[in-house]
Amino acid sequence: MSDPKPTQFGPNGEAIVPMRLQKFLARAGVASRRGSENLMTAGRVRVNGEVVTELGSKVDPTVDVVEVDGVVARLFDSSVTIMLNKPAGYLTTMSDPQGRPCVAELVPTDRFPGLFPVGRLDMDTTGLLLFSTDGELGNGLLHPKRHVDKTYHARVKGIMSEEQARQLSDGIELDDGPTLPAHVRIDRIAKGCTDVEIIIHEGRKRQVKRMCSAVGHEVLRLHRSNFGPLSLDGLAEGQWRTLSEAEVNALRQAAGMHEKAC
Ligand code: URA
Repeated sequence: MSDPKPTQFGPNGEAIVPMRLQKFLARAGVASRRGSENLMTAGRVRVNGEVVTELGSKVDPTVDVVEVDGVVARLFDSSVTIMLNKPAGYLTTMSDPQGRPCVAELVPTDRFPGLFPVGRLDMDTTGLLLFSTDGELGNGLLHPKRHVDKTYHARVKGIMSEEQARQLSDGIELDDGPTLPAHVRIDRIAKGCTDVEIIIHEGRKRQVKRMCSAVGHEVLRLHRSNFGPLSLDGLAEGQWRTLSEAEVNALRQAAGMHEKAC
């Protein structure tokens, strides 16, 4: 392993200094720090061809070649964005002073430090919630002028009429101003409730619940299935996955942002 060297800087101006091997592995997304230590002690990690089991060992990410089970591990030189299928009962926050369950418990913050939720879902809302370490992407997706479609499936109390659905799709007056036109489709009416699909292009606080309430219907259940071009697509409740570069670029495009160069 290399001798300590003067600080060098990565593509985003971040300092690159020799770092502990388990930190390198965690940053490279191989495993958590604890998991990386286990990989090291199991003799599965090589640096410049040599097996390294000593937990204090350091590497210089700019020159040392790190392999795990023969596969080269590289530091993420770009940010990470993940989607979570949020269960009900979790606050959209990274910590809660009152100790209530929060989404931070469900995503790999040890592996990807700096993750933050992109927007929010209410505690009782389920479904697709994005997290990113990329502030520019987060701001771009949430910017009020950029209208990324979000698809919700709401179960409301009572029978929603086609006229009420039309009012919602035309745009309705809320206390913070009128809503933009939305796509609203009644899917099913049963047992005194209506299942309705609502696609909105904005992201105001509690928007779907407030829209439904404005036409006299309480939302009993709310699920977000799609965010822009992304859908949950079989991701189980409580599970997360990282987005591919193509998915991140599709998101950027949906928000009218330029593609990110690799
Ligand atoms: N609209 C709501 O009312 N709640 C959510 O969680 C998301 C959108």
